[in-house]
Amino acid sequence: MIHEEISLYPLSDSNKGDTVLRIDNITDKVLYQEALVQSEKMLSIGGLAAGMAHEINNPLAGIMQTAEVMSKRLTDTELPANRKAAEQSGVDLDNFTRYLEYRGIPRMLKAIAEGGQRASSIIQNMLSFSRVDHDPYSTHDPVEMLEEILELASADFNLKKHFDFKAIGIVRQYSSNLPPVPCSKSQIQQVILNLLKNGAEAMCEKDSPAIPPCFILRIWSDEMRLYIEIEDNGPGLNSEEKKHIFDPFFTTKPVGSGTGLGLSVSYFIITENHKGTFDVRSGPGEGACFTIGLPLHN
Ligand SMILES: Nc1ncnc2c1ncn2[C@@H]1O[C@H](COP(=O)(O)OP(=O)(O)OP(=O)(O)O)[C@@H](O)[C@H]1O
Ligand SMILES: [Mg+2]
Repeated sequence: MIHEEISLYPLSDSNKGDTVLRIDNITDKVLYQEALVQSEKMLSIGGLAAGMAHEINNPLAGIMQTAEVMSKRLTDTELPANRKAAEQSGVDLDNFTRYLEYRGIPRMLKAIAEGGQRASSIIQNMLSFSRVDHDPYSTHDPVEMLEEILELASADFNLKKHFDFKAIGIVRQYSSNLPPVPCSKSQIQQVILNLLKNGAEAMCEKDSPAIPPCFILRIWSDEMRLYIEIEDNGPGLNSEEKKHIFDPFFTTKPVGSGTGLGLSVSYFIITENHKGTFDVRSGPGEGACFTIGLPLHN
């Protein structure tokens, strides 16, 4: 898409009413402005999210730990301390357990633990917005970095039974003689994992995809940057989705399964922490292609 600005004004030294029609191609300006808005949005959310996450983290840990202890004390009939307390207070543990089950207490305790887990994973994501970096930057072999996380992804996804990652085809298109890239390995791997997870989820969303799901992974470099690209052949993004995918909490997934933080955290890691570029190419039905550009020199 190109953007044009059209202006009309009268020709000053003409008395015949001649008019000048001027058309400027302002595509670069528009794209630059969009990038600027995105980057400012991320900066403000960055500070806020990191601060909030720190504040919420401690009470949340307290809630989860207390719920776990409560669960143990209420439901573990084998625990000597529980048996002793029941004896001292004249409570029949078997009857008590039945009562708890009638009232759905174990299920409620499980719900607290699950809700806590979910809140905690959101907090962890929000903490990634903070600039404090515990993983020092050093140079890494990009192929090794990608292959390592790919292996982890397939183990992780299969383990959690989200989908069969091994059923997804993987085509590797790596240039030869790639330079080592200065970066924080754990952060870049977190970004790649987010992209793989999104792609896999998108491709497996269709009930029985007409074409088998497949990733194309590319790595290449130029003088300035090393590029890592992850393309999928899923349903792709419409223009509205494309506009918002980097916004924090934007998700099209059902409540409980997506936080909408994956891509915004990734965007922040690449553009703010690494001063790199993060682009997406996609159209409805065309799959999605995410390109990370990491600077090779400071
Ligand atoms: N490869 C893709 N193909 C199609 N849609 C995508 C793709 N990647 C992201 N999206 C869309 O962008 C949205 C935002 O993605 P993001 O990773 O930020 O959050 P999420 O995946 O919904 O939640 P989370 O990452 O926390 O599990 C997704 O809900 C999805 O609609
Ligand atoms: Mg995601």
